[in-house]
Amino acid sequence: MVAATDNTAEESTANQPRHIAIIMDGNGRWAKQRGLPRTAGHQAGFKVARNIVEAVGKRQIEALTLFAFSSENWKRPPTEVRLLLDLFMSALESEVDKLMANNVHMRFIGERSAFPEKLQKMMNRSEQRTAGNTGLKLAIAVNYGGRWDIVNAAKQIATAVKSGDMELDDITIESFHQHVSLADCGEPDMLIRTGGDKRVSNYLLWQLAYSELFFSDVLWPDFDEAALDESIVQFSGRQRRFGKTGEQLEGAKRA
Ligand code: IPE
Ligand code: IPE
Ligand code: MG
Repeated sequence: MVAATDNTAEESTANQPRHIAIIMDGNGRWAKQRGLPRTAGHQAGFKVARNIVEAVGKRQIEALTLFAFSSENWKRPPTEVRLLLDLFMSALESEVDKLMANNVHMRFIGERSAFPEKLQKMMNRSEQRTAGNTGLKLAIAVNYGGRWDIVNAAKQIATAVKSGDMELDDITIESFHQHVSLADCGEPDMLIRTGGDKRVSNYLLWQLAYSELFFSDVLWPDFDEAALDESIVQFSGRQRRFGKTGEQLEGAKRA
């Protein structure tokens, strides 16, 4: 990595991610290592999520998208699913004041109609409360699947074509993009997955097309600000070519 001695401020901020997506994995194994029930891992993981939201906000990063519950996680034992939903509900009760104080704009991505009505109402209310906040854009992916997201976008577009609001030729990558989750904020610059597995597990399939991927062996309840900073430093050393050659990018920098 080249030392950033004579970099302009603009160049150095260009090296800072604007949007980070995280797969918070490893809660169950963390608990198992300690002889605790998996649910204790989720409780510990929730506290870490809270710290990381604050840490990311402090670093002037625009957006953070956290994977909290996948569309496939319903396959887990009912007691674990129930605990996760309860934890989610109590988090909504306890955290929104803090998000308001920190100017965080929170929303949810995923198919929320599968949740109990009470939970859906709480989700809507907390989104409405934080909607005017101008700080960190926090998205929590719950009952989210990347394939669902793409199919959902396709359905919206098909409806528009059927009703005559859109022509077949209007379907482009750009117009399709407008119908997937997070269309209004830039695509994730980096994806961090904790827990040691190297897969995307149906997360943000469309949005991760050019994200830099980081896999950490640290289990999510052990992830902290130092680990976050380490990934951000590594990110700043990566050359994002978007299909171009390294020479083209070097040339553009010198020009
Ligand atoms: C991630 O941790 C949290 C959720 C999927 C809700 P896990 O519960 O998947 O933890 P491991 O992978 O079993 O260790
Ligand atoms: C991905 O983790 C989902 C979340 C972190 C919420 P999983 O633990 O569900 O992923 P797999 O099953 O190991 O691929
Ligand atoms: Mg897991």
